[in-house]
Amino acid sequence: MIFLHISDIHFLREYIKEEVGYNSIFNNMTNPIIQIKRVLEKIDKNILDFIIITGDLVESGDSEDYRILKENLDSLFEGIPYIVTLGNHDNKKEFYKGWFNEGLKDEPYNTMMEIGKLKIISFDNSEYHNNNGTITLDRCNWLREELKKDTDKDVILMLHHHLLKNQFNLPPVSFDKDFEDIVNESSIIGIFSGHTHHPYKGIFAGKPYFTAGSLSFVGYDEEDGKVRFEEATKCNLCRYEDGKIFVDIIDILEESKFLTRIKF
Ligand SMILES: [Fe+2]
Repeated sequence: MIFLHISDIHFLREYIKEEVGYNSIFNNMTNPIIQIKRVLEKIDKNILDFIIITGDLVESGDSEDYRILKENLDSLFEGIPYIVTLGNHDNKKEFYKGWFNEGLKDEPYNTMMEIGKLKIISFDNSEYHNNNGTITLDRCNWLREELKKDTDKDVILMLHHHLLKNQFNLPPVSFDKDFEDIVNESSIIGIFSGHTHHPYKGIFAGKPYFTAGSLSFVGYDEEDGKVRFEEATKCNLCRYEDGKIFVDIIDILEESKFLTRIKF
């Protein structure tokens, strides 16, 4: 089985453009929908069995952004099943309204999808505008119960915020021993995250762990607290074979594109 792991799309139907500061990232950024299209052309989408998207679907957008994004993804993926999780730039209320036309919902988006022998669990460890993410007791309990079911399946766990301290210069989401034990004792065969915008491969709680790059922008630290932002063009092409996961990084970059430099 072959699947695509994409992350941190940060879509908006119209970006706020500013000369300086955070919004200056978006002045010359290629729209992520175009980047997803380029990925699908590069790999030939007919090889894909499914697609996972690990959060920051929109750049703090509203329900209409979600509706338009979904419409675009449905048309680009042409029936390939896909599953999403939410990130810190996703407002849950706007997401439920735009994605499902459910106007009154404002709660963590925990869900799952089964494909053949695989069960994909989308675990929400995000809170709107909380850069550090969260794993509450309630969410942990949901995960435990979900992992108890269908134990004959191989499980893929997808979440937005990263889990390993050494993978990035911002701290991972906090979790307690209980979360680590739940993961360690489960039939999870791969964990997939986003948030950092930088690809990474490692091990978490004894399980293979992969972070995807982004298809919007990526930051590189420079001296004096400055960060150089470039267009981001990476995602992961993954294979599930004999109960194991293999991951290749895909890059659609032709040449690097400078977006802005910000002093934080
Ligand atoms: Fe992001």
